[in-house]
This record gives sequence, C-alpha cells and structure tokens, in this order.
Amino acid sequence: MARVDLKPEEWIDHPALAREAHNRMANEGILLASLDASGRVNPMTIGWGVFGWIWGRPIFTVLVRPSRYTYGCVEATGDFTVNVQPADRRDVVDFCGTRSGREHDKMTALDLTPLPSRRIKSPGIAECLIVFECRVAAKNDILPPEVIEDIKGHYYPEGDYHRVYFGQIMAVSVEQDFLRRQAK
Ligand SMILES: Cc1cc2nc3c(=O)[nH]c(=O)nc-3n(C[C@H](O)[C@H](O)[C@H](O)COP(=O)(O)O)c2cc1C
Repeated sequence: MARVDLKPEEWIDHPALAREAHNRMANEGILLASLDASGRVNPMTIGWGVFGWIWGRPIFTVLVRPSRYTYGCVEATGDFTVNVQPADRRDVVDFCGTRSGREHDKMTALDLTPLPSRRIKSPGIAECLIVFECRVAAKNDILPPEVIEDIKGHYYPEGDYHRVYFGQIMAVSVEQDFLRRQAK
C-alpha cells in the first residue's frame, strides 16, 4: 500500500481528511497504537479526541484511563500514533476496544502490520488510511472536583479518571489512493 507523507502543520489544510478522521473517531472509534516494554505494538480503540492547534503547533489530544494497558506504554515512551482504519475494518475497532494488550497480541490476532514511524518510537499500523505520529508535549489528569455531576456519574462511576495527553503531531502519512479519492 503506497503512502504519502504530509507535513504535520499542513494536514489540517485537507478538510476532507480532517472530516474523515473526526467522523470515524466519533462514530465508531479509531486506533491509538503504543509500544510496550517488550517491543510489541498495542492498538487500543479511542472514541474521544480533539484535533487542534496549541503552543503554535498541531496537537491531537487524547484521553486514556489509567486502567488501560496503553497507559503504561505511553507513560514509558512518551509517544503514540493515532490511526484511522479503512471503513470495512470495523472488526478492528471492535476487537481493540474490548480486549486488552495485557492478555492479547492484538496486532497478530487481527493480522495487522506495524508501520515504522519516522519521528517517534511507537509504530503506526500499515493497513490504516491515515497515521498521525504524536509525541506527548504535555499531560494532565481530569480532576474529580472539577467535573460536573452528570459527567461524573455517567462516565466515572468507578473513579477511573482519564489522563489527558496533548500529542504534538510530528508526522502524518496517508494512504495514496485514499488521499486521491478525498482530493476529488
Ligand atoms: C468505541 C470505543 C471507544 C473507546 N474510547 C476510549 C478512549 O477514548 N479512552 C480510553 O481510555 N478507552 C477507550 N475505550 C476502551 C478501550 O479501547 C478498551 O478498554 C481497550 O480494551 C483497552 O486496551 P488496552 O488495555 O490494550 O490498552 C474505547 C472503547 C470503544 C469500544
């Protein structure tokens, strides 16, 4: 699968790409991939995130609960990739959103291929349409006293408050045919 590299500060100029990434994330989830201590790539489904511009740089903000295997991986490497899977790979987000890397080698189980990153340690996923390489530029925790009651009751009944990672987008790669179709 041929890929095209976009400059991180320029990808947002492709509105169709931004729309596709956002819609896919909000509707079915996309994949945050990190590297564990044994060198294994671990994809986890994320449904929440914010693409934006902070500190004069492109940022993808993600929320990860400390209970996830992913959490320890991102803490250790200080980076992650965000990957937008093809529309016909719903099975991938379903599996990666319900199984943990503690018990499963999800890449092998789903027959996915690591895509070496250009700027960070964590690889991307070669089968994905868009891959964002992100390094953790800042992080913070959701503070329980600062959360309104309806969100607290609905999303944090067990007190597993997210850690928020501000990932600076260091590199972007897009599958070539997908980019051509989006540009039309
Ligand atoms: C659609 C969907 C969206 C999800 N979004 C998030 C998220 O944004 N943050 C998070 O911490 N977990 C999220 N999860 C849960 C994790 O994907 C799930 O717990 C996963 O098994 C964790 O994998 P890991 O233990 O290998 O890190 C989501 C699950 C689904 C199905």
